[in-house]
Amino acid sequence: AKTIAVLTSGGDAPGMNAAVRAVVRSAISFGMNVYGVMRGYNGLLNGDVKEMNMRSVSDIMQHGGTALFTARSPEFNTPEGVKKAADFCREKGIEGVVVVGGDGSFRGARDLCGAGISCIGVPGTIDNDIACTDYTIGYDTALNTAMEMIDRIRDTTESHDRCSVVEVMGRRCGDIALNTGIAVGAMATLVPEVPYDFERDIVERMKAAQRTGKRHYIIVVAEGVGHTQELTERIQAATGIESRATVLGHVQRGGSPTLRDRVVASRMGYHAVELLNNGASNRVVAMKGEQIVDFDITEALNMPRIFDENLYRVSARLSI
Ligand code: F6P
Repeated sequence: AKTIAVLTSGGDAPGMNAAVRAVVRSAISFGMNVYGVMRGYNGLLNGDVKEMNMRSVSDIMQHGGTALFTARSPEFNTPEGVKKAADFCREKGIEGVVVVGGDGSFRGARDLCGAGISCIGVPGTIDNDIACTDYTIGYDTALNTAMEMIDRIRDTTESHDRCSVVEVMGRRCGDIALNTGIAVGAMATLVPEVPYDFERDIVERMKAAQRTGKRHYIIVVAEGVGHTQELTERIQAATGIESRATVLGHVQRGGSPTLRDRVVASRMGYHAVELLNNGASNRVVAMKGEQIVDFDITEALNMPRIFDENLYRVSARLSI
């Protein structure tokens, strides 16, 4: 039987456990042996792997985080590191590796493929910032967490007639901000993909809303826009409305995954093993519409990310 391994790499995301579980269970059902690699690519460098059986992945699906732990591995990102990891795989008889992570992790998978080990990437990141796929594992849970947190912030913002500026995650990608902004009825949403004008997009808007009787304001800002505290102080200075900044931070990365994340992760994990079972390599699993598909890793990494202009227009029209 073929032997494969699974690892989670980069920032963790709720639903990664469901992907790992799906890889382990599918592999066993195809008659393969499967190893779990601890702490991302580091596990391949340190020989930190464990043989998995059906029961190794019991009771993990409902938990956030990743039972295999994760890391960003600078040592692996060198030609020597890649060779060392590939040699370790050969020593263990590992012919294929499923890598659950983001773009950075896929670049590692591509390099490991170059060193002779078949790799399949599975998109796992709360940011939804991977160009080749409509959906990344963890995104739905993060959105729902951010929405719930901002609803709570709204309660106190309203009681005090304040303005709350809430920073959500997304270094290069405004998807979390845009969707939570719509879901919480934000007065303005700032994303890294669209430049904003402080007077026109914030101050004028707040003043116009004030004239219609509005007394409290929620502004959602993507992490990638930056300077949230400074922006909050400028708003207070320009409008006279007492303002507070909240950075939601890593709370968005934890928690029990939603049904959508569990199901998509399960489908993607299964697809990855099916690819390896069919002799495929250097592929990324992706979601297009509701279909699970796959692409060449290098092609996937070169695809431009498309920002949802339509959704942005909806958000701009509804927020006031
Ligand atoms: O990529 C996921 C993410 O949560 C980003 O939204 C954020 O910019 C980054 O990871 C934070 O990374 P770290 O876990 O290293 O603080």
